[in-house]
Amino acid sequence: MTINLSSGAAQTHPTQCLVIGVFSDGALTPAAKAVDAAAGGKIAALVKRGELTAAAGSTLTLFDLVGVAASRVVLVSLGKSAEFDGRAYRQALAGAGRAVFGGVALDAAVTLADAPVPGQPLVWALREAARVLADCAYRFVLPAPVGGGEAARPAAVTLLMSGPASPDLVEAVRRGAAVAEGVAVAKDLGNMPGNICNPAYFAARAREMAGAFPLKVEVLERADMEKLGMGSFLSVGRASANPCKLIVIHHEGGQAGDKPVVLVGKGITFDTGGISLKPGANLDEMKFDMGGAGSVMGVMQTVARLALPLNVIGVIAAAENMPGGDASRPGDVVRSMSGLTIEILNTDAEGRLLLCDALTYAERFKPACVVDIATLTGACVIALGAHASGLFANDQPLADELLASGLATGDRAWQMPLWDDYMGQLRSNFADISNLGGPPAGAVTAALFLSRFAGAFPWAHIDIAGTGSVSGEAKGSTGRPVPLLTDFLIARAFRAA
Ligand code: BES
Ligand code: ZN
Ligand code: MN
Repeated sequence: MTINLSSGAAQTHPTQCLVIGVFSDGALTPAAKAVDAAAGGKIAALVKRGELTAAAGSTLTLFDLVGVAASRVVLVSLGKSAEFDGRAYRQALAGAGRAVFGGVALDAAVTLADAPVPGQPLVWALREAARVLADCAYRFVLPAPVGGGEAARPAAVTLLMSGPASPDLVEAVRRGAAVAEGVAVAKDLGNMPGNICNPAYFAARAREMAGAFPLKVEVLERADMEKLGMGSFLSVGRASANPCKLIVIHHEGGQAGDKPVVLVGKGITFDTGGISLKPGANLDEMKFDMGGAGSVMGVMQTVARLALPLNVIGVIAAAENMPGGDASRPGDVVRSMSGLTIEILNTDAEGRLLLCDALTYAERFKPACVVDIATLTGACVIALGAHASGLFANDQPLADELLASGLATGDRAWQMPLWDDYMGQLRSNFADISNLGGPPAGAVTAALFLSRFAGAFPWAHIDIAGTGSVSGEAKGSTGRPVPLLTDFLIARAFRAA
């Protein structure tokens, strides 16, 4: 799916599907006004009659309007004009996307960016339009031989504006589309069943990406990790027939000496819980337990596509958490790469066991900062649900950058405490630390566990257990937090030094 930017008048634009925005109180956007005038006031009359549902994102399709070049005109509600904000704008874009990709039109022109969002520049509006619309074209297709399915139609959408398409606006559209491409990479990996998407599959996909883009990939095998002393990481994958992999992807877009941003992703390709076996209900959704790693893959593809002038390293900690004759037992003590010993009180708290060694490994890159992304705790789902990811950081400026990127993209995070007060919950009688903090503040104690391995750099942890995938009717990967992370990296790449 490609997104183009074009300038011209909406009413004379030749397309099978023209999308225009109207406010529920009857106010029309500039494009809607022009189409309404050409159609003899028909649009204003329909809106006044209440034919379009008021909620932002609801749509009404009109066919063969006399005086208008387009064969279909989709009216999209922007909600009340006094309440119009970034959220309503994104809801309108998603509604437009449903209408455009759910119909039979072979091309489309979307004019929603001409409704100014208070406080946001036009470059933002076009980037978000490109990103959200391209994201609406996502379809999951299984690989051969089981696979098959159709790509979304239309294959190209035009963002139509009345003003000139200046280079900065063209660049904004390119960035939005590149972010959606990264989101699609993350969604594909997440939706892929666990019998296909295992640690070796991650390694193969990373190598494939390095063939298509100027990225470098290294894959550390079990023997390499043993040599490094990653006893904690390796304990997680012990009982699986699919051996652990540590995959490192380098994007060298900055100056040679510039410190890299390191992203670390939890890549549990299936989480049974191990000997601390999970109950059976919805267990299929534990194929999404690699969402952090999937988002790192997606971000690396976006960063490479945009040739961002920044050094970025993606570290993917991939393993499968299985029970078995060689599995870790509750009570086992392992030695992490950092030297800290860990008592495994629950084999289902496996994410922190592999991330702690990946964080220690990240020290060798002398990072500007490290951000780990993990479907880490059910407790985070209880705390924040599906709307916000949990954010923890040992560095407030870094946390503020990430929070701002969440707001800019609607891929929001909410900061939670990393107070030392909770550390007592991780006390062990038999090792330096235990991997279990008990029921109170489970998302906090998991983050605190990780913080013990992240003392050497500014670090943030994003718990996406609630945001990385959705359950129920629309079950699937969301590709979050690729929008947040790519916004963060784009802002870093272009901020004044
Ligand atoms: N992958 C799970 C966390 C999870 C739960 C992600 C629900 C998405 C939805 C993680 O490995 C896990 O099992 N965490 C345990 C930790 C506990 C044993 C301390 C949990 O949250 O129950
Ligand atoms: Zn897990
Ligand atoms: Mn688990």
